[in-house]
Amino acid sequence: MSSTTGSIIAPHGGTLVNRFADAAKAATLQAEAAGLPAITLSSKQACDLEMIAIGAFSPLTGFVGKADFDSICKNMRLADGTVWPIPITLAVDDATKDTLKIGGRAALKHADGTLLAVIEVEEIYPHDKKLEVPNVFRTEEDAHPGVAQVYAEGDWLVGGPIHVLTVTPEREPGEQFTEHRLAPAATRAAFAERGWKSIVAFQTRNPIHRAHEYLTKSALEICDGLLIHPLVGETKPGDIPADVRMQCYQVIIDNYYVADRTMLSVMPAAMRYAGPREAILHALVRKNYGCSHFIAGRDHAGVGNYYGTYDAQLIFDEFTPAEIGITPLKFEHSAWCNACEGMTSAKTCPHGGDQKVFLSGTKVRELLAKGERPPQEFSRPEVADVLIEWATSSVGAGA
Ligand code: ADX
Repeated sequence: MSSTTGSIIAPHGGTLVNRFADAAKAATLQAEAAGLPAITLSSKQACDLEMIAIGAFSPLTGFVGKADFDSICKNMRLADGTVWPIPITLAVDDATKDTLKIGGRAALKHADGTLLAVIEVEEIYPHDKKLEVPNVFRTEEDAHPGVAQVYAEGDWLVGGPIHVLTVTPEREPGEQFTEHRLAPAATRAAFAERGWKSIVAFQTRNPIHRAHEYLTKSALEICDGLLIHPLVGETKPGDIPADVRMQCYQVIIDNYYVADRTMLSVMPAAMRYAGPREAILHALVRKNYGCSHFIAGRDHAGVGNYYGTYDAQLIFDEFTPAEIGITPLKFEHSAWCNACEGMTSAKTCPHGGDQKVFLSGTKVRELLAKGERPPQEFSRPEVADVLIEWATSSVGAGA
């Protein structure tokens, strides 16, 4: 248990990591970095760096080495046996690899040139994409966005601990969500302050529609508090931008949630669309943020038709509850039923599909682009209005 937060769940692996250098060390690193080879991080790598730095990826202290990489891909565990489903890697191309030395150090830079961190280069090893891709994604098709991303990455992996100066490059202020960008230590402190002992986390990369609202409120019935925890790191083209989603979250919380039972904070991770394995990652990360329960619904973190509707729930059965620590709350596919006049699932409603309000993502987009609200059984009007404003603006129309 963390000594500062009393009864809040222990982080994964037992210790909450913090890889930020203190002021004295930061000055030394800054001076040292000028003479080091540099690695410019991709957007996914920059997200991973932040997740490691703030302890969201505890117990990781850096990018994984070969023993962990192999073990994660094959067994969903770190080499020491701790559950870990997706390798957090620092891939580099041949030219960059040639500038690095094992036992040396390298500067990690944001694409805009900001010095973010220094890595101790403990290992440089071939990027075994043939091992990673089918195991992590359950497919090798490059139409899958996560697979395509790994294929596009460099052929070498650099492993070693990181020392972080900053995770905040020169971003557009609106993209930082500074007020809502709480690190795990901060969410833990906030939960303790509110006196919440059981906290359910809701991962999302979409606006909150009625089905999402139903899941979160059903879960909140058995927990003290709800953490609405949208992923705001890299997502695929076509997903709704994080700043638009944040407006949707705010407006639905203001109008339909109980303020002192609900918290909104962002998770700066990149999306991998790895379905079942990513569900495990999402759950472990929320344990690090101090949550005791985690919502896994229909096709969690899935994309296209790569995963079965409940694969991301079934995968939790491959581990003991103690190994995962956080409790998954598994929800059936939910939708509004006209006969029941409420949100339902196959578990609670006897009526057929003809009574259900189902809308595809494509259909919703068509409506929004025409300035039309989806039915209120699908989406709250306040949320629809934020989306219409975005979809009918030049930015949204071009997305
Ligand atoms: S995800 O990539 O973050 O999983 P999304 O934001 O759509 O995508 O989903 C957030 C959570 O809600 C996930 O746990 C997902 O399984 C669940 N979910 C989304 N829509 C439904 C639905 N209609 N019925 C049940 N669960 C759902």
